[in-house]
Amino acid sequence: MISKRKKVVLAYSGGLDTSIILKWLQTELDAEVVTFTAEIGQGEEVEPVRAKAELLGVKPDNIFIEDLREEFVRDFVFPMFRANTVYEGQYLLGTAIARPLIAKRQIEIARAVGADAVCHGATGKGNDQVRFELGYYALQPDIEVIAPWRQWEFTGREQLIDFAEKHQIPIAKDKRGDAPFSIDANLLHSSSEGKVLEDPEVEAPEYVYQRTISPEDAPDQATMITIDFERGDPAAIDGVTLSPAALLARLNALGHDHGIGRLDLVESRFVGMKSRGVYETPGGTILLAAHRGIESITLDGGAMHLKDELMPRYASLIYNGLWFAPERAMLQALIDTSQEHVSGRVTMKLYKGNATVVGRESPQSLYNQDLVTFEADSGGYDQRDADGFIRLNALRLRIAAARDLRLKSGK
Ligand code: ARG
Repeated sequence: MISKRKKVVLAYSGGLDTSIILKWLQTELDAEVVTFTAEIGQGEEVEPVRAKAELLGVKPDNIFIEDLREEFVRDFVFPMFRANTVYEGQYLLGTAIARPLIAKRQIEIARAVGADAVCHGATGKGNDQVRFELGYYALQPDIEVIAPWRQWEFTGREQLIDFAEKHQIPIAKDKRGDAPFSIDANLLHSSSEGKVLEDPEVEAPEYVYQRTISPEDAPDQATMITIDFERGDPAAIDGVTLSPAALLARLNALGHDHGIGRLDLVESRFVGMKSRGVYETPGGTILLAAHRGIESITLDGGAMHLKDELMPRYASLIYNGLWFAPERAMLQALIDTSQEHVSGRVTMKLYKGNATVVGRESPQSLYNQDLVTFEADSGGYDQRDADGFIRLNALRLRIAAARDLRLKSGK
């Protein structure tokens, strides 16, 4: 019996590594390759990928190129920002949040074309392999996953280049040697890792940064903008309504010009090791500050503190590739519920690497100037009520202090 030729949907960037994977699937596994390329704002043209895939022998019907920018920002980035999500206190999860979307589309395409397997180009050492594959399995439990970096015989860059040459894969001149570092980019961020960045003691060279100017070179003149929020999501800049992707792109441009959103971080990977990366999240950094600004007047204190407690848990779920896990959906429901009144306008000052909230207003505000004013008692607050409030809150502290004094004096 002849076994059926395997049909594989490959997440294909058009770059050298995934081109090698494409050929390897065709030659070593004798697979029929279907390529999927997502435009998610990585800053490289995706259409030229079509010609490249064809050149490598992929049938035109088997080439999928899709613009997912709006879906990426609307259904992944914005929901995550409703939680003010940061991993290990600093990382805005730009790579982690894009993986579930790519996995989802890959599985949908696999179903549409009747493929047996899906394949990605993430290495065996990182988080991304976990994120892709947990996504695949969550959406299609019986899917076969091919992870060439964990399977093939190649041991070094040279062997890969040899293989590429043997199979007439075009190699850009600067790709012959080792790349100076590895990049992952989308509308939310660029991430750089490896090579020149591997020693965490040494400052990252300026040329690593690609979507922000250095704060030192940023203009002496601040830019003021307003961001309007509706139920926790940004909807307009300076009063102009923009689609999710257009809005984030606009914030990226503003952040770029003011050197906002650079991060040099050592983080804990899910697979257990520490790694050092340089991140640039210009628009996201402005958005995070602005969202906290609008929440500060519209979100109840108790609700905010609960969100803040749960946020690191939610961040870890996304970092670890568990976007499609039930507990992420549960947390999302809680977070989304909290955003019912998170609407209004925030005024931001962008200046030399900083995005600072300088004004906030909302028809749904909880801020009551009559209540908080130093001027006179009004708005239903009686300062004498604070007497009993403090007395009762102090009760257990006084009991404990009295005991400690008693023990110290030996009585
Ligand atoms: N360490 C980051 C993460 O796990 C980024 C990984 C991909 N970045 C790269 N330059 N290859 O989210």
